[in-house]
Amino acid sequence: MHTPPIGLTASIAGPVRWIAGAPCLPVHLPEGSATVEGPVAGRYFLARCAEEVDGERTEWSIYLRRPLYAVQQRGGEWLLHLPPDDDPGHAWLRRRAEGAGVHLLGPFGNGFALPDSGRNLLLLADLTDNPGRLALLLALLEPMLDRGGRVTLLLRLNGSLDEAALSHLPIAVEIHTAPDEAAWAKALSTAIPWADQICAGLPPSRYGPLAQAVQAKRFRLEEGFCQILVQADILCAVGACLACVIPTANGGITRACTHGPVFDLTRLAL
Ligand code: FES
Repeated sequence: MHTPPIGLTASIAGPVRWIAGAPCLPVHLPEGSATVEGPVAGRYFLARCAEEVDGERTEWSIYLRRPLYAVQQRGGEWLLHLPPDDDPGHAWLRRRAEGAGVHLLGPFGNGFALPDSGRNLLLLADLTDNPGRLALLLALLEPMLDRGGRVTLLLRLNGSLDEAALSHLPIAVEIHTAPDEAAWAKALSTAIPWADQICAGLPPSRYGPLAQAVQAKRFRLEEGFCQILVQADILCAVGACLACVIPTANGGITRACTHGPVFDLTRLAL
């Protein structure tokens, strides 16, 4: 549950920071705005990428808002993932000076949920096609460790591990890496039996194999056991444009912006 999305003007809190291998935009939000219950992982804002003077937008060359996913919240300061691509909107946000304003709508979305029961959390991230996925899971670590839980992180990546990318992880987190598909499958089969819950950032091609891996070790995939962050194209965030539609396990479709972006794996794969 979270408060209804609102429009607010954030201020840039400093230069872009690299957290867990992903560039993040630090912003201050007005006091009392954008409060959420539970971890912020999976929540997102829509950022307007244009100046506003006296409440009026001054130009429309970048007319679509850009979704920015939450990486961390400390009081009024949020870190929002800012993809390192050449998208004009992202580039505009990157150029904003410290103290400059950015108009946001949000927070939107159903984020990850950590149930009261369960002490062993398994985090899965495939970084081979998207190095930013690990950062989007980070906000789950502290709540789980604070309650005395155990967190294991399994990363699928090509090449060697970038130690700097992991410098922001608490030392209590157990980290495993899989440099190829065989290692990934083996690590999954080892980790799934002891996990009480899985939270994952994976491409769609991995939803089905993950569901099968869970079924192989636990006989069936139960609702509530595995949550997946789906990074679909998000334009309106209110269910109106259908840009974010994704297929579901029962042959239907659903909108990631309003029904996600975090989904139970049972909704995505049988
Ligand atoms: S982003 Fe428009 S319907 Fe989801």
